[in-house]
Amino acid sequence: MEPVKKDIRLCGQQIYLRPITAEDTESVVRWRNEKAVVDNFIYRKPISEEEHRDWLRNKVETGLVHQFIVCGNADDMPLGSVYLQNFDEVNRKAEEGIFLGERKLCGRGIGTEAAKLMLSYAFRTLGLHKLMARVLAYNQSSIRMHENAGYTQEACLKEELLLNGKYEDLILFGAINPEK
Ligand SMILES: CC(C)(COP(=O)(O)OP(=O)(O)OC[C@H]1O[C@@H](n2cnc3c(N)ncnc32)[C@H](O)[C@@H]1OP(=O)(O)O)[C@@H](O)C(=O)NCCC(=O)NCCS
Repeated sequence: MEPVKKDIRLCGQQIYLRPITAEDTESVVRWRNEKAVVDNFIYRKPISEEEHRDWLRNKVETGLVHQFIVCGNADDMPLGSVYLQNFDEVNRKAEEGIFLGERKLCGRGIGTEAAKLMLSYAFRTLGLHKLMARVLAYNQSSIRMHENAGYTQEACLKEELLLNGKYEDLILFGAINPEK
């Protein structure tokens, strides 16, 4: 995939998405290392600024990942991030990931709006056929958010991951482009 076009902006009612830049590093690393985010992610090691800069160089700038920052319409405040990764150009699909760092803003529909904007970008701008998302079965807000955004549960992989000494179920969500 080509890298994200630098001037793109995806606009919703209360938020917009803009491409991530190196200036977002401090915020993204802080958000990604918050307990509420780490506990809901499969990859759990703390991320350093250096690792994040490597990610930007090797994944984002090469187009292997299309990553956006979620910003408030009212004040341009950066709130979190949503991205596409694991592009499969043969089958025209990718995987979505999302995290909001500003916890006090969770539960106001921001995640749902960001996930919808990402779906629209994937389907209309990139012309993908399918997005998928992996969600830990205990992550009720992510389950509800993906359902609200238009995903459906396709599978539940039982005791798929050993996290903190406990086997956890993993739900696979899918959203299909009705037009391509
Ligand atoms: C998942 C996340 C992005 C959702 O963002 P958000 O802005 O809070 O999401 P929304 O407000 O759009 O929707 C949350 C939904 O979950 C529901 N919800 C929240 N907590 C819940 C709980 N404990 N049980 C059941 N439903 C819950 C809300 O009621 C809402 O559903 P509704 O609109 O049908 O009522 C955010 O919580 C987050 O960043 N979590 C940590 C990282 C993470 O889990 N990322 C996803 C990994 S797959």
